[in-house]
Amino acid sequence: MALPFSPPRLHLSSSIFRTFLVSAFLLIVISLLLFSPVSRICPSAVSSPLVAPAPTSLRHLLFGIASSSKSWPRRKSYVRLWWRLGFMRGAVFLDSPIAGETDEPGLPTLRVSANTSRFPYTFEGGLRSAIRIARIVKELVEGVVGNDSSDADIRWVVLGDDDTLFFPENLVGTLAKYDWEQWYYVGGQSESVWQNSKHSFSMAYGGGGIAMSYPLAKVLARVLDSCLVRYAHLYGSDDRIFACLAELGVGLTHEPGFHQVDVRGDIFGILSAHPLTPLISLHHLDQIEPIFPGMTRMAAFDHLFRSAHFDPSRILQQTICYDSSKLLTISVSWGYVVQIFEGNQLIVDLLSVPETYTHWKRGLSSLILSYMFNTREFNKDPCKKPDVFFFESVVQHQGRIQSNYTMHDLEICQERKVHTKNLKQITIFSQFLQPRQPLRRECCEVLQTSSATVMEIYIRKCKDDELIAMHQGTG
Ligand SMILES: *[C@@H]1O[C@H](CO)[C@@H](O)[C@H](O)[C@H]1NC(C)=O
Ligand SMILES: *[C@@H]1O[C@H](CO)[C@@H](O)[C@H](O)[C@H]1NC(C)=O
Repeated sequence: MALPFSPPRLHLSSSIFRTFLVSAFLLIVISLLLFSPVSRICPSAVSSPLVAPAPTSLRHLLFGIASSSKSWPRRKSYVRLWWRLGFMRGAVFLDSPIAGETDEPGLPTLRVSANTSRFPYTFEGGLRSAIRIARIVKELVEGVVGNDSSDADIRWVVLGDDDTLFFPENLVGTLAKYDWEQWYYVGGQSESVWQNSKHSFSMAYGGGGIAMSYPLAKVLARVLDSCLVRYAHLYGSDDRIFACLAELGVGLTHEPGFHQVDVRGDIFGILSAHPLTPLISLHHLDQIEPIFPGMTRMAAFDHLFRSAHFDPSRILQQTICYDSSKLLTISVSWGYVVQIFEGNQLIVDLLSVPETYTHWKRGLSSLILSYMFNTREFNKDPCKKPDVFFFESVVQHQGRIQSNYTMHDLEICQERKVHTKNLKQITIFSQFLQPRQPLRRECCEVLQTSSATVMEIYIRKCKDDELIAMHQGTG
């Protein structure tokens, strides 16, 4: 843009003819700008580049990962599962350098946080590393500005821990809904009512991930240190960021796809009844059991990423189908698990979360130990629990996605389940799920096959008036 608008150069040239030529050129450029089709459709385009801004993508995100010299050697494998080399920018912040540890391909750059010993920390029993971690956003933004390396391309700053898994396409798709030029603070609450009551119901929990539009992150970077002095009594880094943003007058935009995972044990229940929104993150990876049976934790997350890479929008999306001829209800959590229940189970009951996990905080009264979502009992009795089939493999075949789920249960109830007794595998056919807002849950059908060992299911868009319920006499 600067090229045609350089008056000093015109004065330096003494040639009137040259001045005339340049003026004529300028006139043409100005009239093109004013009367081009773009400016007629959208008058504001006159002051901005003529090309529409590119949709938000991974390259517009700047990540800050909180780690430490103690945890990084072990947890970098978690980061490697989701980090996209060449498509993502960001850094891992350590408390001190690790001997022999240098930047590795496939991982963000390593940085050592600045000294924070001058800031007060008074939360009894807490960790003062909270201050260092809260300042990641500041060091990240100042690093970019100091470097002048394509600062213009950043739209969002995303903060997470070294035990956070991000699902990159869904993270980007979610942030793309918001105008990054405004001030946005996006994230999720804790699952635990107790945690939210101790910290805040209006705060983005750091392990689940905090996203901030870049203009907001830049302002926060400027004022953060003065807030840190005022909030010495708070516990964590996310409390401090929340407090400082509250002082800036900014509130949380809640996105339930961010998962802090403040529970312990088997999160099967949470993963099998995901809310109707894309999965953005999972956290506390060391506190939960492997999410697939018979695998190590790392192998199990890697396995989930196989389906997540394939159709990111659909991962964990819950679909309910009914086989009225056999009186079966099937709940699919795509890319993770299929459950078959006997009888007619209403969808509203299957949307509540089976309590397969335990509380984050041990030894408190049950009232305060409730969750931020509806739960239901998970009966471990093999004759009362559903048949469970875990995700095994996925391929694309003639424009359809075919995913297979295999029978897992070790103890199978022999007395009942006439129709599922010999069932060993479920095959699900689906199309790529287009990310759209709002999502409508899709419908599914049990296909008629002659096989007693394989059940085939087809997931498709529901018809306008179609209801997800058991229809007697059909199926
Ligand atoms: C941090 O600063 C304090 C006070 O200036 C100093 O005593 C301490 O050694 C510093 N720590 C590191 C790791 O440099
Ligand atoms: C799923 O199972 C069917 C039937 O056993 C098989 O033909 C198909 O190749 C399997 N697909 C995948 C992705 O493993």
